[in-house]
Amino acid sequence: MVKHLLDLTELNKEEALRILELSKEFKERKENSLLRTCEGMKAALIFEKPSTRTRVSLEVAISLLGAHPVVLSSNDMQLSRGEDIKDTTRVLSRYVDAICARVYEHQTLSEMSVYASVPVVNALSDKHHPLQAIADVFTLYEKTGGLDFTLAYVGDGNNVCHSLIIASSIFGFNIRISTPPGYEPDFNVVKQAEMIGGKKISIFEDPKEAVKNADAIYTDTWVSMGFDMEEKERKKAFKGWQVNQELMAESEDAYFMHCLPAHKGEEVTEDVFESERSIVFDQAENRLHTAAAVFFYLWKEVR
Ligand code: CP
Ligand code: NVA
Repeated sequence: MVKHLLDLTELNKEEALRILELSKEFKERKENSLLRTCEGMKAALIFEKPSTRTRVSLEVAISLLGAHPVVLSSNDMQLSRGEDIKDTTRVLSRYVDAICARVYEHQTLSEMSVYASVPVVNALSDKHHPLQAIADVFTLYEKTGGLDFTLAYVGDGNNVCHSLIIASSIFGFNIRISTPPGYEPDFNVVKQAEMIGGKKISIFEDPKEAVKNADAIYTDTWVSMGFDMEEKERKKAFKGWQVNQELMAESEDAYFMHCLPAHKGEEVTEDVFESERSIVFDQAENRLHTAAAVFFYLWKEVR
């Protein structure tokens, strides 16, 4: 069976928990037997947009598994000269054992998943960033010792926000969200998450209300890749949604989280970013362990 990971709805709770367990084993290197277990496998990693963490964590994780990553910029592929997704996908499926892609439009991944005979993994699209959310949940699982935490997300209702919303339903943690008017998460994603069950998804107009009693306060850039033409109006609209000391004071013990890259002075102040409450580099590190877990899971455990 081919299992894709375009968004987190493709995992049920049991599978999601197994990926957390595997992430822990990869991180502790407890089960050294997990390393190099995918010898001979190959993965194509396609990037339509820039990346630091996703690209490097995937490349290193796949190498740790003993597999071979083939990193491709879409600009260097025939895709840039008009070859279509379905032909590209069918060709790559003959060479590699997984296709992982960072794309502008989520639809590109959906099309790939129709034509691929190997797993297709989302390395970020305009709608979802599942690999990021898995690393974030793993980070909070480590920090709080379980999954019964409350995450407050403040800022743009974007790809990262969507994946955290779906993660909250699958893993069963509380999520509280505050975005400026007009930048709310996609209603269909919220509905989809609510249908999975889990805890209630709470949406607040006031960011101060959203962060009350939270275990972690999360934000992301106000201008995601592909939205640069909206930069001016976005920076204006998001002003009251900055994570600064005043907002952090509303929930004294909360961690600060960010998927990175951060724009200091915009969505977060430098003092919050550099504070002891900031766990952004733990999140970044966990991208590696969770990526190894995801590929091991897709290659070795999906039947
Ligand atoms: N968080 C994240 O996906 O970072 P990159 O854009 O550097 O991959
Ligand atoms: N929301 C951001 C995340 C970057 C990792 C973007 O899509 O640009």
